[in-house]
Amino acid sequence: MSEQNNIILTGFMGTGKSTVGRALAQELGYVFVDTDNLVAQRAGKPVTLIFAEDGERTFRDWEASVTEDLVTHRGLVIATGGGLFTSERNAEMLEATGPVFCLAAKPKELLKRIQASGEHRPLLDAENPLQRLEELLAERDPIYKKDKYTQIDTSGKKPAGVVKAILNELKKQEI
Ligand code: S3P
Repeated sequence: MSEQNNIILTGFMGTGKSTVGRALAQELGYVFVDTDNLVAQRAGKPVTLIFAEDGERTFRDWEASVTEDLVTHRGLVIATGGGLFTSERNAEMLEATGPVFCLAAKPKELLKRIQASGEHRPLLDAENPLQRLEELLAERDPIYKKDKYTQIDTSGKKPAGVVKAILNELKKQEI
């Protein structure tokens, strides 16, 4: 494992990017960062308030500015917000700094995890959150399911199992 790289986690809300990323960073002696936290720090308010008061466009601008800074660093495990890769520019900049792992799970499991987390996800505010989640997931599929990203199925796995799967892939791919 080269200290020259970052390790980037993408995937839909509820796939466990932050929990897994924190444990993975600890395992590798990397520094863990979470783009949602960095955005909230910079904006001086939580992500949900940015969405409510300033709108999604402003939130995406914050994500772009956080991404620009992160790519100047190495030795990071970066958990990205689920929509950060919808910007091709963000995705390309991050890809250039290290391998990308895309975490996935089945829609029902995702919704269960999101609801259990107690964290508000403005994009799922809908009469039928499962239907909204499935629509958004279908829209995002081409962004997440790229051959150049290593796909990690987290369904039925605990975070430690997902970390292990990523470590195995890193070894297998000699990253
Ligand atoms: C979003 C995912 C969220 C957060 C925001 C928008 C998205 O992050 O950035 O609510 O567009 O998918 P998580 O993937 O960490 O939940």
